[in-house]
Amino acid sequence: KILILDFGSQVTQLIARRVREAHVYCEVHPCDVSSDWVREFAADGQLKGVILSGSHASVYEVDDKAPDAVFELGIPVLGICYGMQTMAQQLGGKVEAGHTREFGYAEVRARGHTALLKDIADFTTPEGHGMLKVWMSHGDKVTEMPPGFKLMASTDSCPIAGMADEDRGYYAVQFHPEVTHTVQGRALLERFVLEICGTRPDWIMRDHIEEAVQKIREQVGDEEVILGLSGGVDSSVAAALIHRAIGDQLTCVFVDHGLLRLHEGDMVMDMFAGKLHAKVIRVDASELFLGKLAGVAEPEQKRKIIGGLFVDVFKAEAAKLKAAGNGTKGATFLAQGTIYPDVIESGGAKSKKAVTIKSHHNVGGLPEQLGLKLLEPLRDLFKDEVRELGVALGLPPEMVYRHPFPGPGLGVRILGEVKKDYADLLRRADAIFIEELRNFKDDASGKTWYDLTSQAFTVFLPVKSVGVMGDGRTYDYVVALRAVQTSDFMTADWAELPYALLKKVSSRIINEVRGINRVTYDVSSKPPATIEWE
Ligand code: XMP
Repeated sequence: KILILDFGSQVTQLIARRVREAHVYCEVHPCDVSSDWVREFAADGQLKGVILSGSHASVYEVDDKAPDAVFELGIPVLGICYGMQTMAQQLGGKVEAGHTREFGYAEVRARGHTALLKDIADFTTPEGHGMLKVWMSHGDKVTEMPPGFKLMASTDSCPIAGMADEDRGYYAVQFHPEVTHTVQGRALLERFVLEICGTRPDWIMRDHIEEAVQKIREQVGDEEVILGLSGGVDSSVAAALIHRAIGDQLTCVFVDHGLLRLHEGDMVMDMFAGKLHAKVIRVDASELFLGKLAGVAEPEQKRKIIGGLFVDVFKAEAAKLKAAGNGTKGATFLAQGTIYPDVIESGGAKSKKAVTIKSHHNVGGLPEQLGLKLLEPLRDLFKDEVRELGVALGLPPEMVYRHPFPGPGLGVRILGEVKKDYADLLRRADAIFIEELRNFKDDASGKTWYDLTSQAFTVFLPVKSVGVMGDGRTYDYVVALRAVQTSDFMTADWAELPYALLKKVSSRIINEVRGINRVTYDVSSKPPATIEWE
């Protein structure tokens, strides 16, 4: 196993991800664990290497150090950015506060003589130097290497951009190999953990399940857990995992707000109650939600109403469960499908997000209000890892690879006031669009258009337009199709769907969904448009 000590960089978890991608087991722990803790962690003889992460701070602002034991275990250590600087300082080198910050793309001259960088380069200069394209973000730099170290990499502005003491297995780089902008980063981290540390690449998602199950059992003991199941990927995978760990100690509460996709509620029940035999309470609250939404057209207000009601309904169910007791003291844990990107987002939200473009449905504050402890078994995982885990847990791939669906559901896909009739029309139109996206394959890639798009859905426009059907004039509603491709949902391009697909969808919707007589396709990118229409 590999120990990653976290000095607080925003990308520490990416190091863990790269190590897991190399099929090596790793754990991330805060940098201030004690030396005794480190020795204990290594006591089973399985610890093969340590990685010291970067930090958002400077060595002059904080005095975070690696526990001394890290350098006493006789195993390889890799320092990244701040990790390099603290390694230099702790082993007798010097770090100087930088006057200029180096931030972003850089080209590093790599000295190929070290085991870490041997034969790893992006290009070679005319003089024959191997060069790496990397991503740097630092102010301070190492100005004097500790005794025993030799130079491994340099840039013009940072002469000591990499250093190594190969006898002891100590390596350090000023750039960030964990981010994808560092082209050879993955190769470099793989080389460190597999070749230099000598780990075996035998860790797979199934092992993660075992470890996670064990952890959940330890954390929960014989107490009870409730979880708000939405049908989305994260809460579904969390539910399946926790159910695997503690069975009937878990109760899922599935609040149907009446703004779900066609048959979605039944599918969720069928999977969790039917196939997994989990305890699921389905609360049909559609009348309550639609009632409170009547007459409300403003998107943010709709979001607030839906989010608020969701919390109220959930709390009421939790209270009922407690009252019923079932001979137990009721739930003491609230489980959530928080994943790693959510953790980063909420941590960094203060400085980054000056304006709220859309207030996302969130249930923050719920555990405190309910007096419950939090259980978040997916906190360390990225979305695609969560999906992989879901499949390994036996959830159907269609569920796990489903496009994201916003918490307020169709509530933000019906423009303006939400009405039940509108929702019914929209659900049917949307189901046709999704069905055809799944039917149509792209010849070149062999993939379906559902898999080729990141998010696709139908939007209900509460305007009427004139049409002609048979001999008669129609005066009916309009829907817009939206399909986008994006890697992070921060920016997105509209998808160039084949005309044949659009044609089929349009003709099916107009023929099969009475009440809609016009279909349009949204060709706006984000920015300046957003993915959802509200
Ligand atoms: P926008 O429309 O902001 O959407 O480009 C980006 C991503 O966020 C989703 N989204 C939401 N998710 N509650 C959610 O849980 C919301 O209120 C909400 N609004 C947008 C959207 O579906 C897309 O994936």
